[in-house]
Amino acid sequence: MATTENELTAEVIASFNRTTDPRLKEIMQSLVKHIHSFAKEVRLSDEEWMFAIEFLTATGKMCSDVRQEFILLSDTLGLSSLVDLINHAKGDERATEPTILGPFHVQNSPVLKYGDSIIQRTLDIGEPALVRGRVVDVNGKPIAGALLDVWQTDANGLYDIQESTEVSGNLRGIFHSRDDGGYAFQTIRPVPYPIPDDGPVGKMLRLVNRHPWRAAHIHAIVSAPGYRSVTTHIFDEDSKYLDSDTVFGVKGSLIKKFLPQSDGTLLLEYDFVLVQE
Ligand code: BEZ
Ligand code: FE
Repeated sequence: MATTENELTAEVIASFNRTTDPRLKEIMQSLVKHIHSFAKEVRLSDEEWMFAIEFLTATGKMCSDVRQEFILLSDTLGLSSLVDLINHAKGDERATEPTILGPFHVQNSPVLKYGDSIIQRTLDIGEPALVRGRVVDVNGKPIAGALLDVWQTDANGLYDIQESTEVSGNLRGIFHSRDDGGYAFQTIRPVPYPIPDDGPVGKMLRLVNRHPWRAAHIHAIVSAPGYRSVTTHIFDEDSKYLDSDTVFGVKGSLIKKFLPQSDGTLLLEYDFVLVQE
């Protein structure tokens, strides 16, 4: 029977000794070790422990088919980006860097052709932009038939699935690269937007004086047979919040400039570089 804090920690760790799955045993024992050491380090009070329980309970209650508050919590604590770094550590410096998926990806976006627009609404806001480039391997060789799944918010900072009135599939599209690896689509310049902050995670951000904003970005998942697929963003170089993205998703290599064209529209060029499997 434990009489000291450290004896208690050791006893709880030992209680997992008979776990037959070695990975589960490793994770549970490490979790106990770190969560105990956290509580000991901050000298967690009864009230603070209860506050945390109530916070996690509220986080769970906020979750639904269309809202995953625990993932938002993981995102804002930098855990999602950390797991991304652990599992997709820089292999080939030439390859497109990954970043987090986020909660607004949907399956079955409209399948579109080279140069098509992903705008599917009549709202007349936003700066028109052409996004184009190639999908290539690390030696610059074009990858034909690569699949590009792209999505972004509208100029009001909302994804189609956050708006009951919006056309589904607005500002989403699936493209296939041409024989020369080329892809292109018409869109609007993305804008910074706040992550959903009407729940416990938003409350947490306000309590600690953090803002809920993400830097302006376009999401992309790019895949091709024989290559490792990449889940990533392209960030607007002129966006606010590049150095304080609330979910820690920005990587320098993913920041690109929207260049003004003579016809008043914008052009963003970006090549996706995939690594062979
Ligand atoms: C997003 O970029 O869509 C996103 C990522 C994390 C939390 C909320 C939104
Ligand atoms: Fe996003």
